[in-house]
Amino acid sequence: MKVGFIGTGSMGSLLLEALIDSGSLAPNQVYASNRTPEKVIRLQQRHPGLHVCTSNAETAHNSDLIFLCVKPLQFKAILDEIGSTLRPDQMVISITSPVQIHHLESALCCKVAKIIPSVAHRVQSGVCLCMYGSRIKEEDRQLFEHLLSPISKPILIDESFVRITSDLSSCGPAFLSFFLDQWINAAVETTGMDRGELTWIAGEMLLGTGKLLTQGGFTPLELQKRVTVPGGITAEALALLDSSLTGVFHRLIATTHGKYKEDLEKCDAQFGGPGAD
Ligand SMILES: NC(=O)c1ccc[n+]([C@@H]2O[C@H](COP(=O)([O-])OP(=O)(O)OC[C@H]3O[C@@H](n4cnc5c(N)ncnc54)[C@H](OP(=O)(O)O)[C@@H]3O)[C@@H](O)[C@H]2O)c1
Repeated sequence: MKVGFIGTGSMGSLLLEALIDSGSLAPNQVYASNRTPEKVIRLQQRHPGLHVCTSNAETAHNSDLIFLCVKPLQFKAILDEIGSTLRPDQMVISITSPVQIHHLESALCCKVAKIIPSVAHRVQSGVCLCMYGSRIKEEDRQLFEHLLSPISKPILIDESFVRITSDLSSCGPAFLSFFLDQWINAAVETTGMDRGELTWIAGEMLLGTGKLLTQGGFTPLELQKRVTVPGGITAEALALLDSSLTGVFHRLIATTHGKYKEDLEKCDAQFGGPGAD
């Protein structure tokens, strides 16, 4: 299988390198192009054998699967650029939430899919949200998820839930890191303890909490109860968090969904209206 990457910025290069480092792809199976070619050349230097393509059409022509790793409003121009080189047996995969499966199917003759990856794939962790177009057959899906499995847990989701699930799986590492950063800053300021040591303790705590939720049979509420002694220190601090954070997650969801709606309207306009073919 030959796999193309159009756009090797933050997420494109992360996916590409995670797939190579996990052994899921050999460098010589990879074709890549980027608006600023130096980024692909640097990847080739790190992974000898990787093919640097001088145009997106060259990447598309040479690949069975093509990951489009650009920002939502850059999609239409790239689809116009590669559309005529694509064949029906190829598969194009968007990695961005506002570009809809129907946008891709209306613009391309090939199979299409959408995934929302996570930065956690760099360490072979995290859920990869997968959505498939009508031209994808069961064997295409199996082959594709076989490719992703060494770096992630691929799960099928309904496209209408893409934003809320992306908030958790894809934005979640940033949200939780924000929380930890504030917490560690306060700990350093209050106690003078070493930031690196506190960060390591926090990371191990997060890893263990994740395992308790995924393998240990706990729900988040059960975990709070398991740690809390009535009238104890954790209980007092949880009461503080509860009163301080009232409504914050509803506002967070309203914010991510508001931005998504804006981007979706811009994509609809580029692709000729909602649901247009
Ligand atoms: N970062 C994440 O954790 C994450 C997670 C899930 C999904 N995503 C999605 O992934 C998409 C990309 O995000 P990102 O963080 O990787 O952005 P990014 O770092 O800005 O990468 C985008 C890349 O696309 C390249 N590009 C732009 N126009 C191009 C063109 N016409 N032809 C070829 N390459 C082109 C850019 O090239 P230049 O070098 O010239 O700028 C840049 O390297 C976004 O839609 C985002 O929603 C990101």
